Amino acid sequence: MRRDKIRFGIIGLGLMGREIASSIARWCHLLDDGPVPILTGICDVDEKKWEWYLEHFPTVVIQTNDYRELIASPDIDAVYCAIPHHLHEKVYIDIIQAKKHLLGEKPFGIDKPANLKIWKAIESNPDQIVRCSSEFPYFPGALKLIRWINEKRYGVLIEVRAGFHHSSDMDLSKPINWKRQIEFNGEYGCMGDLGMHTQHIPFRMGWRPKTVFADLQKIVDRRPDGKGGTAACKTWDNAVLTCRAVDPFNSREFSLVFETKRMAPGATNTWFIEVYGTEGSAKFSTHDPKAFYSLKSTGKEQGWTRVDIGSQSAIPSITGGIFEFGFSDAVQQMLGAFVAELKQKKSDHPFLTVTPAETYSSHCVMSAALLAHATGKRVEVCYNKK
Ligand SMILES: NC(=O)c1ccc[n+]([C@@H]2O[C@H](COP(=O)([O-])OP(=O)(O)OC[C@H]3O[C@@H](n4cnc5c(N)ncnc54)[C@H](O)[C@@H]3O)[C@@H](O)[C@H]2O)c1
Repeated sequence: MRRDKIRFGIIGLGLMGREIASSIARWCHLLDDGPVPILTGICDVDEKKWEWYLEHFPTVVIQTNDYRELIASPDIDAVYCAIPHHLHEKVYIDIIQAKKHLLGEKPFGIDKPANLKIWKAIESNPDQIVRCSSEFPYFPGALKLIRWINEKRYGVLIEVRAGFHHSSDMDLSKPINWKRQIEFNGEYGCMGDLGMHTQHIPFRMGWRPKTVFADLQKIVDRRPDGKGGTAACKTWDNAVLTCRAVDPFNSREFSLVFETKRMAPGATNTWFIEVYGTEGSAKFSTHDPKAFYSLKSTGKEQGWTRVDIGSQSAIPSITGGIFEFGFSDAVQQMLGAFVAELKQKKSDHPFLTVTPAETYSSHCVMSAALLAHATGKRVEVCYNKK
């Protein structure tokens, strides 16, 4: 069977660029009949990064250190872009205006004004599919939780907690990089890095914060600069946002807590979501990636039921149903969801990638959180685009 091809370019060939390229390389893993992504272009200002791609991808026909050359190429249909946050605004806008589809990385602009400018470019180019990356909801346990929420098994929501506990910064001898520097990473610090991951499912469920109270922490002031000295580390390490949100299902208010921590002892890259309701509760964490926990509240003793789940993914794959699912699988499934939208705008995929509107909501919440922390007050989240 001949299948359509989508020619991808990757801008930013670092940590995430390689993950996406590797997903493309093993597309045969997926058992669907949609278009097949082909890596035809790569771009990074650091030319040493090209080597791995050129060694493994004979399909690459354009390699460049200037992204403008890549997006001008007729050999590119869609771009995955994974570059530092201060570059999102300019590069994303240029990609969209070059009429390429875009899967961009979070936070989709270093701050709210940057995000709004990206929005304007999207509005002027409605034929382009523009989405933001967020892979954790594609873990089978998370998909099961999404189905559970959609079935309204919770009754009235009491609390939803969504978090990301990172720990790479627990190593105090690790030299500083752009992710710890405000000028490249942004004022949001850990929220800009990790926030979208925690918000994708809640926002999609219509759980958008009305108000936010924020506790932000700077734990490590200085880090090695990699040149024998030290450099100031000004970004927020950890953030806990306590929000009030309304569940559109029954118009009832509940607590919505977002935790984004770069310094979480005992964790590596733990993403979790917990939903607590009057009738039922459920939770999933990548710390225990095979486990889906749920309980029914009967008013008396309540015990969690742990179901051991396998690799049942949104897009079926060759992996046996009882085998384990991992980060690279989640990234591939996310790319599959994006490709599904390229194939068919109104895709029947059960959980699509983050929309530009959701990235805007994320910026609204994070901007309100900065103000809430600075003033020590609960702040109303302003979603007005003016
Ligand atoms: N979805 C996820 O799980 C996840 C994980 C980590 C990072 N990210 C996001 O991905 C993006 C990149 O993060 P990363 O960890 O891959 O960073 P990285 O530092 O590993 O890679 C970034 C790459 O961009 C290149 N670059 C810088 N300026 C460029 C330019 N003008 N043109 C072309 N290339 C340029 C750098 O040389 C580097 O190779 C960020 O937005 C980050 O928030 C997402």
